[in-house]
Amino acid sequence: MRNSEKLIQKLRESRNLTDTEFRLLLMDDTCNKILAQHADAVRREQYGTAVYLRGLIEFTNYCKNDCFYCGIRHSNTNAVRYRLTKEEILECCEEGYALGFRTFVLQGGEDPYFTDERLCEIISVIRVKYPDCAITLSIGEKSRESYQAYFDAGANRYLLRHETADIAHYTKLHPSGMSCKKRKNCLFQLREIGYQVGAGMMIGAPYQTLDHLIEDLRFLQELNPQMIGIGPFLSHKDTPFRDFHNGELESVLKLLGILRLMFPKVLLPATTALGTLHPEGRELGLQMGANVIMPNLSPMSVRRKYMLYDNKICTGDESAQQYRALARRVESVGYHVEMGRGDAKGFELS
Ligand code: 5AD
Repeated sequence: MRNSEKLIQKLRESRNLTDTEFRLLLMDDTCNKILAQHADAVRREQYGTAVYLRGLIEFTNYCKNDCFYCGIRHSNTNAVRYRLTKEEILECCEEGYALGFRTFVLQGGEDPYFTDERLCEIISVIRVKYPDCAITLSIGEKSRESYQAYFDAGANRYLLRHETADIAHYTKLHPSGMSCKKRKNCLFQLREIGYQVGAGMMIGAPYQTLDHLIEDLRFLQELNPQMIGIGPFLSHKDTPFRDFHNGELESVLKLLGILRLMFPKVLLPATTALGTLHPEGRELGLQMGANVIMPNLSPMSVRRKYMLYDNKICTGDESAQQYRALARRVESVGYHVEMGRGDAKGFELS
């Protein structure tokens, strides 16, 4: 048996490898086929062929941060800014609910207009109107008190990518003033409060090394989140990283497979960035253990403005309104969509 295959089997059985073993596996460009077989088997053991859908509402692209990779960074004066009103957000939920969605993801830049008071008001209205739905927030770094207030208002889940677990690498991706430690701390606080949390990193981000990826895996082991969102770095023309190469499809797929074997029960999205990188990126992700897709529920008029990276797909099958077309694509690779809340195993509502 080939070396990598032994490593993959070991990873599947013990859910862990040494750093040296991870490095070998990450360096082998030829093992994705066998990795997919194992990752898919583990995913079927845990989740069958279910792919959970979440309705994504990108409610503001104002952001006070200036992350070097991100198209909606504060300094990008070419970005056309928008915010949805509370009524518009509720209309998205209404439309999503009618389509069958039972998870709403409120995602936005770090926009000071949305004070805790405004956010809590929106969250509690959604909570009362849709008691059977999960509310997921993805709105960046906040104080513990703020996180607690959103939770008390009815939010259940929180997505905050750690972006990179390596302190030195973190400072190469972010301006001074943002800190890796602070970001990790936010994730631990969210978990303590009782959120189901999602972390994650970009694959192929500028200056990223294999050792950084191993550090990411170690950090994820420590945090043990319910969801892990990864996708390729994709350059954006109006950012300092405009000239860097995009992340590679095979690298993202490799990491997805490794994560499925390390965290059999984790929710693993086939991300929009993966679908942007390659026309069948998300299908390939599903075949590598991914089991979540987050179609876009934002109003058509604002979708093109939430451009985190160039060419972000937003009006095709990733559109929530097109979810039947999406369902067919999911079925074409042997899975089926589930519209329920789709909590991580072990975190279902009683
Ligand atoms: N390429 C890929 N992903 C990006 N994100 C932001 N900018 C980019 C980019 N240029 C990701 C970050 C962030 C999430 C909302 O989108 O990981 O956490």
